[in-house]
Amino acid sequence: MLSQLSISSLRNISAINIQPSKEVNFLLGDNGSGKTSIIEAIHLLALGRSFRTRTLKNVIQFGQQQFQVIAKINSDTPVGLQYSLTSGIQIRLNSAPLKKLSDLASQLPLQYISANCHQFFELGPRFRRQLVDWGVFHVEHRFNYHWQSYKKVLQQRNSALKKRKPTAEITLWNTHLSEHGEQINSYRLSYLSNLLTEFVPIFTRLCTDFKLAEVSLKYQSGWLKEQSLSASLDSSFERDRKLGYTRSGAHAADWSFKLNDADPAEMLSRGQQKLFYLALSMAQGKLAIKDGNERSILLIDDLSSELDIAHQQNVLIELKKLPVQSFISSTDLSLGELVKDEKDKVFHVEQGEIKLANA
Ligand SMILES: Nc1ncnc2c1ncn2[C@@H]1O[C@H](COP(=O)(O)OP(=O)(O)OP(=O)(O)O)[C@@H](O)[C@H]1O
Ligand SMILES: [Mg+2]
Repeated sequence: MLSQLSISSLRNISAINIQPSKEVNFLLGDNGSGKTSIIEAIHLLALGRSFRTRTLKNVIQFGQQQFQVIAKINSDTPVGLQYSLTSGIQIRLNSAPLKKLSDLASQLPLQYISANCHQFFELGPRFRRQLVDWGVFHVEHRFNYHWQSYKKVLQQRNSALKKRKPTAEITLWNTHLSEHGEQINSYRLSYLSNLLTEFVPIFTRLCTDFKLAEVSLKYQSGWLKEQSLSASLDSSFERDRKLGYTRSGAHAADWSFKLNDADPAEMLSRGQQKLFYLALSMAQGKLAIKDGNERSILLIDDLSSELDIAHQQNVLIELKKLPVQSFISSTDLSLGELVKDEKDKVFHVEQGEIKLANA
């Protein structure tokens, strides 16, 4: 959760400074006013990267040398991110330079929900793995260790395969790969079954007109069902050698929530798909709350696209029930009136400047 936020020289924002609400924050304004830029700034701060560009120099305001995002997280911990043309990226947590981005990420569970998040269901398995792994990362503190180790071992094994090394130099990695892979697999499975439990009631409330019969989890570990990963690595050794890389493993996992055994993309309308994705993110935000995290953050860019007023209202009502701080952008200035709650804040964004509307 953010209790204070300052942004400077970032896209069309010269300098703004706001005290966000713990609950819902509306960022309302015309096209090009700077709403997505504020959301981008928060995303940058939490994750060290933008969802709009790989080259951070594009984020710096035209004619400037650097941009800065500074905030207080949870009760009072200062965090700051600065990117300058000369010295690159620098992140400070509690006034000390941060070495690992994951240290900050674990304190600030944050999800970005794009205007066209309904397209999620057409994306590849990599995105679905990212989604589940985000959740596991915030629930199982050992996950990051297993995942980083797994990636390293996989790289070694693939490099040995590619260089056509002798068998023993390839199979040497199997034990470690299996250990980490099996652990990752069991974390994912138990997370997804908890996620399903949280997801169903939320989706039912968001999408009142859709008569939900049965939602089920379809999960693929990334290797043959009846086998252990270790046995699978053994039995597919010749195939891997021909391919020059390791095909099966935790890096090949996939999952989906099926509705009456069908894909959401084949069954739901576009608006309903957006609600499905929002419900997933809300359920994840709820599960991510543990230890010192008071609230997780949802960045919802352009809530109004694809959704009519009644469904936007359902989303806002649902957010009130969750331990979530949200930043919601829209070009619809009346959105802030939809659910009257004194704890919410409405910010009007105009040409990179911001005005608190309900002070
Ligand atoms: N590096 C930059 N320096 C200055 N201005 C920039 C830079 N990059 C983008 N802009 C401009 O910043 C403005 C804000 O863009 P932003 O995407 O935040 O708008 P928005 O309020 O989300 O609009 P929309 O409702 O259309 O999504 C745009 O006019 C954009 O062209
Ligand atoms: Mg935008």
